Amino acid sequence: MTVAPNPPATLVVMNIRELVTVDPRLPAPGVVEDAVLAADGDRVVYAGPRAGFDVPTGPGTVEVDAGGAAVIPGFVDAHTHLVWLGERSQEYAARAEGVSYEEVAARGGGIRSTVAATVAGSLGELVDAARERARRMLRMGTTTVEVKSGYGQTLEAELRQLSAAATLAGEPDLPDVIPTYLPLHGAVGGDRAAYLKGVLREGLPAVAGRARFVDCFCEIGAWSVEECERLLTAGRAAGLGAKVHAEQRSHSGGAALAARVGAVSADHLDHATDRDLRSLAAAGVTGVLLPGASLVLGGPPPPGRRLVEAGVTPALATDCNPGTCWSESMPLMVSLGVATAGLTPAEALVAATSGGAAALGLGDRGRLLPGLRCDALVLGTPRWLDVGYHLGSNPVAEVIHGGRVVPTT
Ligand code: NIG
Ligand code: FE
Repeated sequence: MTVAPNPPATLVVMNIRELVTVDPRLPAPGVVEDAVLAADGDRVVYAGPRAGFDVPTGPGTVEVDAGGAAVIPGFVDAHTHLVWLGERSQEYAARAEGVSYEEVAARGGGIRSTVAATVAGSLGELVDAARERARRMLRMGTTTVEVKSGYGQTLEAELRQLSAAATLAGEPDLPDVIPTYLPLHGAVGGDRAAYLKGVLREGLPAVAGRARFVDCFCEIGAWSVEECERLLTAGRAAGLGAKVHAEQRSHSGGAALAARVGAVSADHLDHATDRDLRSLAAAGVTGVLLPGASLVLGGPPPPGRRLVEAGVTPALATDCNPGTCWSESMPLMVSLGVATAGLTPAEALVAATSGGAAALGLGDRGRLLPGLRCDALVLGTPRWLDVGYHLGSNPVAEVIHGGRVVPTT
């Protein structure tokens, strides 16, 4: 029997001072010093010490000299509302003067105002607006982004948002896009039972093949546990994974619901109790922390430390949306994960990479290990710690997406 030789690497990143692998067999975040990263096509074939590197290189191999910088996995931003039109800067200013998020909504602003602007737009306008945000995300190291609908509130407008996400998914040099159907977001006017019935009868069948997850805003003033449970149960039966905006502004029962229906993630959790967190841990639900939204809205700090202590896998995400957190920056979320959520820098980096992948049920990314996708960031610094430490800067010098150095300008 002849043994096939190793395929030559198509990409080799040399001269890495600190390579963050997020290898669970190493102390978090899995740092290898003086390292090399190699890929064949879109897959990692080697991620380890320079001394052990013996993958053949061929004439077509692209060599990247990291120049002594650190290399980390690409960020997986597992919760965004990327596709919207309009803006709410006046609400931002009003909230700074003490008007609450709920008061803004009661005055006709909030989600309702973004729905009005978004449904009035064409598919092309939605794509253009979302593309600009996705490009900013890629520049700051996001290689996979989850994108929710939720600003349509009619089947046609929700489908247009998902079509915008699908258009971006087909474009080069953008993050990979994972679409989520969020039909229960802001409260709808009129007959909510009829609206929910329409979502179950027509919405879910229509999004099959277009969305990977179904999501709901389980909150006082939005959608009840019972309404959300009907949606998630029907969504699961239709083959969609479940996600829940849970315990964001009050304790409403969303976390227990996420555990009960076997959701892939429960997101926000600012008002979650220890009992909720134990249920999430027992059900294997990832907890998505959105520290930008928590900071903007005020209220309790995001429960990063409590998630870790309860045995829940934490993820960090931007929540990128025009109301509660307009940020495309995962490095900023790493900083906030440490400064406000009580995570260590290593936990925060893992939460922003493999934690995000767990929140999307993706086992092929978020770590730099042989066989996984080669989504990696060459930083402009030799230390991975600078991602969170250097607050508000962009630490990313080069983005490698699917084994290819991508233009980010
Ligand atoms: O995740 N909480 C619900 N949805 C968004 C906010 C949406 C908005 O205000 O437009 C969130 O914070
Ligand atoms: Fe959200």
